[in-house]
Amino acid sequence: EKSGYEHFMLKEIFEQPKSVHDTMRGRLLVDEGVIKMAGIWDHIERFKNANRIIIIACGTSWHAGLIGEYLIEEYARIPVEVEYASEFRYRNPIITDKDVVIAISQSGETADTMAALKLAKERGAFIYGICNVVDSSIARITDAGSYTHAGPEIGVASTKAFTAQLTILSLIALKLGKHNGNLGNAEFMSLIAELDAIPKKIEDVLSSTHELVQNIAKDFVNATNFLYLGRGYNYPAALEGALKLKEISYIHAEGYPAAEMKHGPIALIDENMPIVIIAPKKGHYDKIVSNVQEIKARKGKVISVVNIGDTQVSEMSDYVIEIPETSECFSPIIASVPLQLLAYYIAVYRGANVDQPRNLAKSVTVE
Ligand code: F6R
Repeated sequence: EKSGYEHFMLKEIFEQPKSVHDTMRGRLLVDEGVIKMAGIWDHIERFKNANRIIIIACGTSWHAGLIGEYLIEEYARIPVEVEYASEFRYRNPIITDKDVVIAISQSGETADTMAALKLAKERGAFIYGICNVVDSSIARITDAGSYTHAGPEIGVASTKAFTAQLTILSLIALKLGKHNGNLGNAEFMSLIAELDAIPKKIEDVLSSTHELVQNIAKDFVNATNFLYLGRGYNYPAALEGALKLKEISYIHAEGYPAAEMKHGPIALIDENMPIVIIAPKKGHYDKIVSNVQEIKARKGKVISVVNIGDTQVSEMSDYVIEIPETSECFSPIIASVPLQLLAYYIAVYRGANVDQPRNLAKSVTVE
C-alpha cells in the first residue's frame, strides 16, 4: 500500500499534486469564475455578519490556521484570531453568537480541539469544520464544514493534509471576499487561475528538487539545531518546516518570523547553525535580503527556498532550492513541499522511523 515508496510519508508527500487537486475538485470552477462550497454558501449570512472568525486547532493544523488568518483578513477583511485549542478551552474565552469558529483537524479526533468546539458551541458560536477524516467526531459536531479530501494520511507527520487545509482556507477566503465585495472580480479571477495551477507546480517542485534536497539532507545529518525563517504568509510555513524536522528527525528546530530574529535568536547564529529561509520574490523580498545579510555576517549556513531565477538571496546562500512563482498567498503550499522532503531525508539518513516517530500518535485523543 506504500505503492513502492519506502515510507508512507514519502508517498504522501508525492501525492500532493493529486490531493490538492482533489481538494479543489468540484469547488474551484475556473472557467465559470466560481467557487462552489455548499457549507459556506448555505450559511453565508453567518459568515457575512460575523464579528470575527476564530480558528481553533493544534499542531500542523494550527499552522494552517495562521495562514488562514492572513488569507481571510487580506481577502475577506473579516477579523480573524487563531488559537491553540488547548489554550482556548481553559481561559474562559469571550465568544458570542456573532462569532464563527473554524476548527481545523486532519483526524477530526483531537481531544483539545473537540473540547474547545464544545465550549464555543455552548456559547452560541457557529462552528465550521475543516477535517480530513470523513464522519470523524469533530466533523459530526460542527454545524457545517468542508472535508479536505486529501485521502487517508498514514504517516504520523502531517504533509498532504496540511497542503489540503491551505487549499480549503484559500477557497474560503476568496469565496467570502468575492461575496462581500472586498475582492474585486479581476483580482478574484487571477487568484483562482493561480490556485488552479498549484497542483502542476507542486509536481514540478517534486521532480526538480527531490534529488537536490536529498543531497542537502546528507550534509545536515549531524546537525543539532535548525532555524527556519519566513515573513508574511511564509512565517507559518517556517513554523511548519521546523515542526516537521523536530517530529521525525529529533533535531531541535525553531521557526521564527525572519524580522524577529534580531530580537533574540540571532544570538544563536554561528557557523554551526543551519538556517532555512523561505524567500519567494513576492512577499517582503527586500526585507528578507537584509535578514540573510545579517545571518551571513555571522556565518550561519543558509539553505534558501527561492523562486526560479533568483539572484540576490541565492548568491548569499550555501544551498539553494528553487520553486516556481505563484501569488504570495499560495506560496506556502509550494514552499512547504521541499521542506517536507528535507525533514524526511534528514530523518531517514539518521535512521529514524519516520512513519512512527517516538512519542507521537496520529490522533491525539487525550488532552
Ligand atoms: C504534525 C502533527 C500534529 C497534528 C496535531 C493536530 O505533523 O501530526 O502536530 O497536526 O496533533 O492533529 P489533527 O489535525 O488531527 O487535529
